Amino acid sequence: MSVHKNVKRVTTHTLQEMKNAGVKISMLTGYDFSMARIIDTAGIDVILVGDSASNVMAGHETTLPITLDEMIYHASSVVRGVNRALVVVDMPFGSYQGNSREALSSAIRIMKQSGAHAIKLEGGREVIESVTRILTAGIPVMGHLGLTPQSIYKFGTYTVRAKEDEEAQRLIEDAKLLEEAGCFAIVLEKIPADLAEEVAKSVSIPIIGIGAGNGVDGQVLVVHDMLGINNEFSPRFLRKYNNLYEEMMGSIQRYIEDVKSGDFPNENEQY
Ligand code: KIV
Repeated sequence: MSVHKNVKRVTTHTLQEMKNAGVKISMLTGYDFSMARIIDTAGIDVILVGDSASNVMAGHETTLPITLDEMIYHASSVVRGVNRALVVVDMPFGSYQGNSREALSSAIRIMKQSGAHAIKLEGGREVIESVTRILTAGIPVMGHLGLTPQSIYKFGTYTVRAKEDEEAQRLIEDAKLLEEAGCFAIVLEKIPADLAEEVAKSVSIPIIGIGAGNGVDGQVLVVHDMLGINNEFSPRFLRKYNNLYEEMMGSIQRYIEDVKSGDFPNENEQY
């Protein structure tokens, strides 16, 4: 599968082995070649080409506007930067809901044109026909339950999901349905930690959490958020590992000063 020698690629089977062995799975989003190269070289297990690209790359308020062509563009850029990690691509809003044939052809386009290794889609029972049909083509599918941002206009807010018993029960049932259908993993977004832990114990496939506590099999964050590039987003679940907004701002301001003062370029920086 890989043209790069001496690199043992992460596969969906690797993730299952990690869950079985109690080894936590690390996952971050990535949308472009340069960032993907850094994330992969750092040793991440999974890179998610998230439809959060709609927010952090394109500046849209929601994930709804991003298109299949745009997701394929981001995914193929990421794939070119990756030697080891499993690359999973979000199916964008409108490319799989309510029509399993269209879902299959969207998933095939992503796999064929980007070279990625798996797709992710949001929802449980309402998308199970699409999940099943995509799996018939041998395309690995990751599920996504809890806060599903493509349904933001149904939810009305980005607050914690499944706090009430009825929604929690439905979520557990959906996780089991996705496992039975053949999904290789499920993302749980912004749900109570106790519920996420219960789901991780109720299914045998890996559960990756975001804002879902520490009782799951792995964690995912949006890379721009954890690096502090986006300084306007600080939910409770986010740990910021840097403040790149400030660092980048400082570097760019110093560059502007150097250009304006004539300090840059100096004798060693010219031909
Ligand atoms: O699009 C995305 O970044 C995601 C993660 C938040 C899981 O789906």
